[in-house]
Amino acid sequence: MTPTVPGPPGAGRPVRVDPGWPTPGIAFGGDYNPEQWPEEVWDTDVALMRDAGVTVVTIAVFAWARLQPEPGVWDDRWLHRILDLLHGNGIAVDLATATASPPPWLIRAHPEIRPVDARGTRLEIGSRQTWCPSSPVFREHSLNLVREMAQRFGDHPAVVMWHVSNELGNHNGSCYCEVSAAHFRAWLRDRYGGVDAVNRAWGTDFWSQHYSDFDEIGTPAASTAFGNPGQLLDWRRFCSDALLEQFLAEKAVLSGITPAIPVTTNFLVGTGPGEIGPGDCDYARWAPEQDIVSNDHYLIGLGAGEDAPRLHLEFSADLSRGLAGGRPWWLMEHSTSAVNWQRVNRAKSPGEMERNSLAHLARGADAICFFQFRQSVIGAEKYHSAMLPHAGVDSRRWRDVCRLGELIGRLGEVAGADVEAPATVLVDWDSAWACQQDAHPSEAIDPFRIAMAAHRAITRHGVGCDVIGAEADLSGYPVIVVPAVVLLSTAQVDRLTAAATAGAHVLVTYFSGIADRFDRIVTGGYPGLLRDLLGVRTEEFHPLGPDQTVRWDDGTACSTWSEDTVATDGTQVIATYAEGPTEGAAALTRRRVGRGAAWYLSTQPDPQGLARVLARILAQAGAAPALALPVDHPAVIAGEVDVVRRGTADRSWLFAINHSAAEVTLPVRGHDLVSQVAVDGELHLAAGGYAVVREA
Ligand code: GAL
Repeated sequence: MTPTVPGPPGAGRPVRVDPGWPTPGIAFGGDYNPEQWPEEVWDTDVALMRDAGVTVVTIAVFAWARLQPEPGVWDDRWLHRILDLLHGNGIAVDLATATASPPPWLIRAHPEIRPVDARGTRLEIGSRQTWCPSSPVFREHSLNLVREMAQRFGDHPAVVMWHVSNELGNHNGSCYCEVSAAHFRAWLRDRYGGVDAVNRAWGTDFWSQHYSDFDEIGTPAASTAFGNPGQLLDWRRFCSDALLEQFLAEKAVLSGITPAIPVTTNFLVGTGPGEIGPGDCDYARWAPEQDIVSNDHYLIGLGAGEDAPRLHLEFSADLSRGLAGGRPWWLMEHSTSAVNWQRVNRAKSPGEMERNSLAHLARGADAICFFQFRQSVIGAEKYHSAMLPHAGVDSRRWRDVCRLGELIGRLGEVAGADVEAPATVLVDWDSAWACQQDAHPSEAIDPFRIAMAAHRAITRHGVGCDVIGAEADLSGYPVIVVPAVVLLSTAQVDRLTAAATAGAHVLVTYFSGIADRFDRIVTGGYPGLLRDLLGVRTEEFHPLGPDQTVRWDDGTACSTWSEDTVATDGTQVIATYAEGPTEGAAALTRRRVGRGAAWYLSTQPDPQGLARVLARILAQAGAAPALALPVDHPAVIAGEVDVVRRGTADRSWLFAINHSAAEVTLPVRGHDLVSQVAVDGELHLAAGGYAVVREA
């Protein structure tokens, strides 16, 4: 039985509280850096937070130097004061452990804490995250700080969640110093037992790389030519684990002192620093360690069409939920408008901030937070937007923030509801890291982008889609996409086969299942371990050049990749290459497997072509859209209306966001929580408009 408590003022309906979720309703707020402001500003800020409907702020993320200005000196009077002030005004606190950036005195005393890059340069202080993830000195000092924080503030009534560090690995994802090298060797010993096993796993008979002792192994720092692929892959795994160790060590201290307070650290899913990709942390391994999964999302121009940034938002939100095992997650940071770290930092257009926030909420984010509350006037982020901009309260941005806060307060009844998602797309960090290495058939293969394209091809039909780790539970999905998961184990293949046998339609794309989890090729024809499940065999890859396209027999244009794929016994060829190096070979195949089917796609169709492929698979699998619309409906044709359903056992809410430049009408009945009017079968959404309809 789920407990209910009265909602925020004005919500009018009981609010479901997720067990373990630290705030009632949908949390709204952002990072707040009071240490950047004189104390007299704080009272104004907290009053303005109330005006904006802020219910939670994250504080002390970069406050280590303020809390410990000198060795042995502790100054936390200011933090007590701001916690009291926030609590007195009904604002909860996600309190950081403050370990993200060590103070200069600590680094000057222990200069070896600073990370070293792949070319051997030790990085200077002056920015942030200037610490080596393997440094025992950093570990000791940071855990002392965490202990102080937990003991001094863990019983403060404002504190509802711990925020460990900040975006672990964003700037210090890998360090090549001697301490890291020794840690890497210890990690390898643990994983492999003996050096012979490492030699086998890395194939060190190649290029005279055989190791006779663990001590000969170093980091894969800059070298003469291509590095050893096994070493490079293990290095990425190790770097992720080294950072995870820091998270777990901080969490253990917190849980020992304040076991009732949930712990999170903010992920950057689907994003490396400033780019789309796997990043440095294997979040499929990290997520089970979080009490609450939280994520930061920033719109990144992808250069692939104007809607690409919002598609990445939807993908990363669906991945955040996937990592949270389908449960609600916390949007820790996004921006009200421009960021400061792209080449040109575009301001958001009117309504864009609201559409972004609702797209996250629709996908299970039960907290909508921003970086940051008050825009800085000094420091490297002074040109980064905030809830309270430089222009002050007499600004469109501030008025929009206040309206958004009010709306989020009204949406409290949605908290805890599940998201309807009959399809899923797998992402695998090992495969993505392997594809980032040199010496591959084509550097254009990027599993995260292929996953994003498949996700888009599903969601543009209005069908909800999870994005999950490649080892996650597959049961219950009628449609499963395996996009360039190049490294597969037999256990994973067995699970895909079992899913298909039980009725799922499994779509595998090119460059999947080529190698095992050690990146050792499976011979006998590609795609190695998947040959039997798919009923296809490929002898040679034919990657396409940057501007090269080839067409199928039905005219579908494809890029990036092609293969001389042949269907084996009983496999149906659905599309054939009509031209190019693989003319006559199979481009799309389908094999019946038990009550389901296994499909193979040996190339990258353009977005329209991929949408047609997925339309066919979704229809055959019976994966229904959140809202059934006629095929000639403008929302379907343009694919620019985002429709997602959240629901509980007895109620449901339809989120509809119109990204197009024209009004659309949707067949919906219920009560729109945005406009607060009844919807009697026709929901009219203006260009850029949005609605959240409690369905009748
Ligand atoms: C995040 C970080 C924040 C802030 C923000 C600016 O990566 O966690 O502290 O720097 O970016 O976009």
